[in-house]
Amino acid sequence: MSKMTSVYDQLLVREHLAHASQPEVLSEAETARLQQSLIEQMQARQAVLIAHYYTPPEIQALAEATGGFVGDSLEMARFGARHEAKTLLVAGVRFMGETAKMLSPEKTVLMPTLEATCSLDLGCPADEFSRFCDQHPERKVVVYANTSAAVKARADWVVTSSIAKAVIEHLAAQGESILWAPDQHLGHYLQRVTGADMLLWDGACIVHEEFKAQGIRDLKKVYPDAVVLVHPESPAAVVDEADVIGSTSQLLAAAGERPQTTFIVATDRGIFYKMQQQNPDKRFIEAPTAGDGATCRSCAHCPWMAMNSLKQLLKGLESGQGEIHVPPRLIERAMIPLQRMLDFPVP
Ligand code: 13P
Ligand code: SF4
Repeated sequence: MSKMTSVYDQLLVREHLAHASQPEVLSEAETARLQQSLIEQMQARQAVLIAHYYTPPEIQALAEATGGFVGDSLEMARFGARHEAKTLLVAGVRFMGETAKMLSPEKTVLMPTLEATCSLDLGCPADEFSRFCDQHPERKVVVYANTSAAVKARADWVVTSSIAKAVIEHLAAQGESILWAPDQHLGHYLQRVTGADMLLWDGACIVHEEFKAQGIRDLKKVYPDAVVLVHPESPAAVVDEADVIGSTSQLLAAAGERPQTTFIVATDRGIFYKMQQQNPDKRFIEAPTAGDGATCRSCAHCPWMAMNSLKQLLKGLESGQGEIHVPPRLIERAMIPLQRMLDFPVP
C-alpha cells in the first residue's frame, strides 16, 4: 500500500471535487416555496427525509418539520431501517444512502445527487482493499461506515465514529488483532486510546484533515475558557487539543452538557445549525483550518455535503433520479458486518 502525501493529491478525489458544485443561495421566499413543494411530494409518495448534521440548515429544518430525522450516520441508519415510509429521502453523502438501502432493500432510497461522495470512500477502492485484506487473513477487518457497499462486504465489522472505540475495545478484549480502514486519523486515535493491535489503511477526510492545532492554541489565548470539541477524523495534533473527542452526536451532546458558554468546534460547520438551535445562549466558533498566510481548501465544510439542496431533493422526488441501487449479492454479504454494528449495544 503506497502512502499518500495528501488526499487532495489523489486523482479520484481531485476529479470528484471538480464536480462538487456549491448550491446557489436562495431567497427566503424561494426556500419556503421549495419546502412547501417538498412537503406535498413527500406526502404523496410516502417519503421521509433523513438528513445528516452537515447538510444545509434549510434541509435539516425541513426534516425536523416533517417528522423526519437529523442525526449522525449511525442514527440515520437506525431511523431509516425502523421507519415505515415507502421512500427514504437521504440528504448526506452516498455511503449513507447505500447503508439505508442495504438495511431496507424493499424501500426506495433517493438522494439529492449521487455525485455526493466522501474522500474516505474514494480513497478505499474495493479491489485494492480486498487484496490488502487477503495479505492479512489473521486480522479482523473493521471498516468505517464511510465506505462503499463493496468494501463493507469485505469486512467483519462496520462501525461509525460513535461506536468505533467500544467495538475496538470489545475485539481487543477477545485477543483479536485488527485491520482498520479507511481513516488513518481515526485509526491512530483508536489505537492510542484502546492499545489494540491495529494495521491501518491510509485514507483521510479532506475536511477534518485541514484543522490546525496551532490555530486552536492561538484561539484558546483569545477565549481561554472555551471548550474544544474535536471529531476524531482530525489529525492527532488537533485531537491533542481537544476537551471532548466524539462523533457529531457526541459533540452536540457535549455542547449542551458543558456549563461553559464558548466552544471551539473542529468538525464540519453544518453542525452549527443544531448546536445553536439547542443552545441559543452559547457561542460556537469554527476551529481554524489554515496556517499563517495559507488558504484552506475545504474550509470546515464538506464540498459533497454542500451538494445537497432543496432543488435537488425536489427534482429527485419528482423524477425518481438519484435512486440508490445496491446489487443483492453485496447486500447479503455487507449485511453481516452491518447487522453486527446495529446489534452492538449503544455505548
Ligand atoms: P458521524 O458518524 O459522526 O456523523 O460522521 C460522519 C462523517 O462523515 C464525519 O465526517
Ligand atoms: Fe467524508 Fe469528510 Fe465529507 Fe464526512 S466530512 S462525508 S468524512 S469528506
